[in-house]
This record gives sequence, structure tokens and C-alpha cells, in this order.
Amino acid sequence: MDALDAIFTRRSIRHFTAEPVSDRDIETLLRAGMAAPSAGNQQAWEFVVIDDRKVLDAVPGVHPYAQMCQEATLCLVVCADLSREKYAGFWVQDCSASTQNILLAAHATGLGAVWLGIAPGGDRAHQVAELLALPGGIEPLAIIVVGHPNEEKEPAERFDPAKAHHNQW
Ligand SMILES: Cc1cc2nc3c(=O)[nH]c(=O)nc-3n(C[C@H](O)[C@H](O)[C@H](O)COP(=O)(O)O)c2cc1C
Repeated sequence: MDALDAIFTRRSIRHFTAEPVSDRDIETLLRAGMAAPSAGNQQAWEFVVIDDRKVLDAVPGVHPYAQMCQEATLCLVVCADLSREKYAGFWVQDCSASTQNILLAAHATGLGAVWLGIAPGGDRAHQVAELLALPGGIEPLAIIVVGHPNEEKEPAERFDPAKAHHNQW
């Protein structure tokens, strides 16, 4: 699958088979996440790989839209180490780029995935940090639920030329 195919056919997948994601695929996803651009190339990201059934089943207790974790065998939590930020506040953009890379890599390898958002500094972030025993200064940005898809989705057509403004609004 080339890059444009991956971009235009990726959809959020929320139903998964019981087949685990291989270690090789997990490494590919982590490599994709760490290949993302970042402000000043700061690469302040850290990742928590969740593959323990007990922890997966506990995720919906700390995130209200995460029921699919009970069906999935893997979550990757994209976090930032704030102490490694060279450009304050840009970690959100860096970790978002990393998250999108992982979604596209999952799709390109035949896996399905969905991005679960965590608002920086909010209650949900605190609860996720507690569940995962994140040290102080490690901020979670997104939980990516990954697995072998057990649903099929058509590509979404969202192009609207009226949303593109040329030179000035
Ligand atoms: C920042 C962000 C937060 C999201 N949070 C959730 C979530 O908590 N639960 C969920 O099921 N999907 C979540 N999604 C996935 C969106 O619902 C999904 O991307 C959107 O409906 C478009 O559908 P598509 O991904 O299939 O193209 C989130 C996506 C983003 C980018």
C-alpha cells in the first residue's frame, strides 16, 4: 500500500479479532511513531505498550470511550517526557504527528486502529497516568487501540474545496 492509499483508506477500527499483534508488527508501529516530525527534532515522545489483559480491561475505567479495549489485544499509549521538551508546549503537536504515523502504519500492515484522545492535563490524563504508573513529567496524549480488524469500513470522502483558502482568507 502506498502512502496516499493508506491516507485515503484509513478508518477508525473498533472491532478486533482475538489474534494478537505480532512483536514484529508492534516494533513497526513503534518505529513509525518515532519516525514522526517534531519541533526542533526534540523527539520527546515515550510509548507505553499495553498487552496485559488486566490492564486492557481497566482502560475503559479511565477513558469513557474506550470500550473496544476489552476486545483488543494491544494499546499503544503515546506520551511526552516534558523534561525533554526544547520548545515548550509543542509536545502535543509532536505526539499527534507520532499518533497519526502509527495509525497509518497499522492500516498499511493490515491492522486496524483507533485514536482515543486524552486532553492534556485533564482528569482523564491523570487517571490514565495513575493506571499506567507514569512518572511525574510524563504526559499521555493518546491511546491507540490496535488489532486485527473484525469490521470493514469504506473510505470516507471528506474533500471540500471550499475549505481551502488561497493566499488570503
Ligand atoms: C483527537 C482525537 C480523539 C479521538 N477520540 C476518540 C475516542 O475517545 N473514542 C473513539 O472511539 N474514537 C475517537 N477518535 C476517533 C474519531 O472518532 C474518528 O477519527 C472520526 O470519527 C473520523 O472517523 P475515521 O477515523 O474512521 O476517519 C478520536 C480521534 C481524534 C483525532
